[in-house]
Amino acid sequence: MAKDLRGKKVAFLGAGKMGGIILQALLKNGLLSPKSTFATVAHEERALALAAKLKVKVGTNNIEAARDADIIVIGVKPQVVEDVIREINGHITAEQLIVSVAASVPTSMIEKNLSANVPVVRAMPNTPCQLGAGMTAISKGKHASPEDVAMTCHMFEVVGRTVVIDEKHMDAVTALSASGPAYIYIILESLAEAGVKVGLPRDVATLLAAQTALGAARVVLETGDHPALLKDAVTTPAGCTIDAIMELEEGKLRVTLIKAVVKAAQRAKELAFG
Ligand SMILES: NC(=O)c1ccc[n+]([C@@H]2O[C@H](COP(=O)([O-])OP(=O)(O)OC[C@H]3O[C@@H](n4cnc5c(N)ncnc54)[C@H](OP(=O)(O)O)[C@@H]3O)[C@@H](O)[C@H]2O)c1
Repeated sequence: MAKDLRGKKVAFLGAGKMGGIILQALLKNGLLSPKSTFATVAHEERALALAAKLKVKVGTNNIEAARDADIIVIGVKPQVVEDVIREINGHITAEQLIVSVAASVPTSMIEKNLSANVPVVRAMPNTPCQLGAGMTAISKGKHASPEDVAMTCHMFEVVGRTVVIDEKHMDAVTALSASGPAYIYIILESLAEAGVKVGLPRDVATLLAAQTALGAARVVLETGDHPALLKDAVTTPAGCTIDAIMELEEGKLRVTLIKAVVKAAQRAKELAFG
């Protein structure tokens, strides 16, 4: 499949939070036209509301939506994926492409529920996609071509950065970047509390914490420098930062974060469907 979304028909089966974010971004950027987009949800009243909001066709019939699409995005909850794939099986062909964003659902589970060799690509985005600041890891199933992967990257570049990885790393990605915004929000909340403790108004403390995190992240991404070197540049001998770092080390921030990601990755593996 050529790497150009324009002119492609796309079906979003399960246009909830994540499916909706991607769908809206593609429409907003003009990569999809409303007339070539068909979304589905479980409830009729939600279909009506979404159709009115996005001005695209929204229904509850997955077969009708998937049948004529070039790309079928699976955005339902992981436990619903198998039912949806079985439902559309027999109505789709190997000329189409399935892109699944479901956590803990391997491409092999989707492939084994389809009688045709439909290419499947797995994508693991995160919620900052809603502001175009997302991180999406992408991996290919056994029938997907490099062009299918390129097309999927093209889709997710509209909502942030992408990286192509081997599927064996998907549980690790789920634990690091898909769950990651939750860890960062806790860190930001704590830093804001700290600001309040040292006398700042809460709104100022939250702004300082969030903009500092954003700035530090941009420096890591844009310079490519190792975070340890960047930390050293802030840490003046006998200054204030080193005192704070000693507290962080004593409180085991570093090892706690590592253990948190390891736990989440184990859980993602345990939850694996199929
Ligand atoms: N949220 C995240 O941070 C995140 C990150 C990475 C990956 N994901 C993945 O994204 C997927 C969706 O998560 P979400 O947070 O977006 O969930 P969500 O908001 O609950 O969206 C799920 C959508 O699926 C619809 N649906 C349920 N059964 C259906 C069916 N049989 N046919 C068609 N549509 C159906 C629901 O319809 P109604 O609205 O009518 O109930 C809802 O719109 C999950 O597999 C998750 O693992 C989420």
